[in-house]
Amino acid sequence: MNPERLKMSAESLPIDISFLEKKRHEVDKLLDKYLPSAEAYPDRLHKAMRYSVLAGGKRVRPILAMTAYEAFGGNDPQIINPVACALEFVHTYSLIHDDLPCMDDDDLRRGQPTLHRRFDEATAVLAGDALHVLAFQMAARSGSTRVVQELAEAIGTYGMLGGQMADVEAEGKHNTLEQIQFIHTHKTGALIKASIRMGAILAGVDEGSLRKLSHYGEKIGLAFQIIDDLLDIQGEVRKMGKPSGSDCRNQKATYPGTVGLERARKDAGQLIDEAIMISREFNAKGEYFALIARFVGQREN
Ligand code: IPE
Ligand code: IPE
Ligand code: MG
Ligand code: MG
Ligand code: MG
Repeated sequence: MNPERLKMSAESLPIDISFLEKKRHEVDKLLDKYLPSAEAYPDRLHKAMRYSVLAGGKRVRPILAMTAYEAFGGNDPQIINPVACALEFVHTYSLIHDDLPCMDDDDLRRGQPTLHRRFDEATAVLAGDALHVLAFQMAARSGSTRVVQELAEAIGTYGMLGGQMADVEAEGKHNTLEQIQFIHTHKTGALIKASIRMGAILAGVDEGSLRKLSHYGEKIGLAFQIIDDLLDIQGEVRKMGKPSGSDCRNQKATYPGTVGLERARKDAGQLIDEAIMISREFNAKGEYFALIARFVGQREN
């Protein structure tokens, strides 16, 4: 990634990612625990689910949920852990289906062959479906119908799936900034925002703080996908673990494709700065939200 991009943001200071590393390891262990055993029948399906989920990934969504839960006083791992994993199961399902030949037709994900390449298309469709269902099973463990509802809304037709449909329909066309913003806030932003909201709701957050957190989530959610588009153009495959140039090959509607590289970098930087400002309104509680926003702004994978 071109380091120039980071200079667009006033908040480009080096960050200490040890907190994120620690959380990521915690999440990895939990995912392993909640996934079905690779030996249990139908083992091919279970192996496929484990292959995609345990391949790695930044675990941004579970970390956001856990951070929000803890910031607002939540302290019961039995409640937050399955919900955090539900978010990663949904996210991984969306990646498996997104990589299929009928969608983005990609061969590499999280540093290894995509699921349909390593197994086959039928297994990839089923493993995605299975992770989708497992996610709701996990979310239900929280006992909060509000949280289950939040998840369903975020990934349904008015959320992630609506965004993915719009993304497919926008291929090969000229797209306005408004259309791109719709795609990005839905296909990616909705789940990121919901991750923070779900964690905070489980901790019993007040409605005023929840509104602020939602704004924070919207900012980092949109920035996350703008940066994903930028990385597809100028990221290093070795670091990203997925191909670059996929958007160009598929004539995808991207943010830099619509407004140009410079403006895309500037807008992402500004969204991150705004998210950091919102984090500061939470004083000490907001420290980790600011850290995560910086991490999103500086990520190279
Ligand atoms: C990639 O998501 C797809 C998008 C929604 C932009 P991530 O960048 O979070 O991918 P992993 O989970 O770290 O592999
Ligand atoms: C994916 O967006 C969004 C979802 C999977 C919901 P992209 O298609 O840009 O993600 P990558 O670049 O393949 O990770
Ligand atoms: Mg896609
Ligand atoms: Mg894709
Ligand atoms: Mg992409």
